[in-house]
Amino acid sequence: MRILCVCLGNICRSPMAEGALARRGAEAGLELAVDSAGTGAYHIGQPPDPRGLKAALARGYDNGRQRARQITPEDFKRFDLILAMDRANLAHLERMATAGNGPELRLFDPEGRDIPDPYYGGPEDYEHALDMVEAAADTLIAELAQS
Ligand code: 4NP
Repeated sequence: MRILCVCLGNICRSPMAEGALARRGAEAGLELAVDSAGTGAYHIGQPPDPRGLKAALARGYDNGRQRARQITPEDFKRFDLILAMDRANLAHLERMATAGNGPELRLFDPEGRDIPDPYYGGPEDYEHALDMVEAAADTLIAELAQS
């Protein structure tokens, strides 16, 4: 199964989500290919935000080799499931999707909460985003392991 995690800049939330989901998928023995992208073009080619990298590394996710990219129409053919970090990202994906048999689009958090954007916040906002990402990833992987 191919899963794409999407936020706005692809430098804060979706790189964390990619790392958390990929590790849990591997631990659960699932064959997942996980990637991430942004709806915006602001940070194309850049590594994750250093504040997010630091917070993620402290929890064992080494996201340092990731580089930001913007979602493309091809992604809607390559991925089975596209997960948005918040409602604005989900609305963007829904506008991009073509009618028919595209991938399932939904929020990353199965509880339906937005993962708040930590970009304009402080270190505690990155920790909070990571807490939410990890909890959501746990639930998602448990769901995928059952199906
Ligand atoms: P992300 O955070 O969507 O979690 O990667 C952001 C990063 C950059 C910007 C906004 C959100 N920005 O406006 O540049």
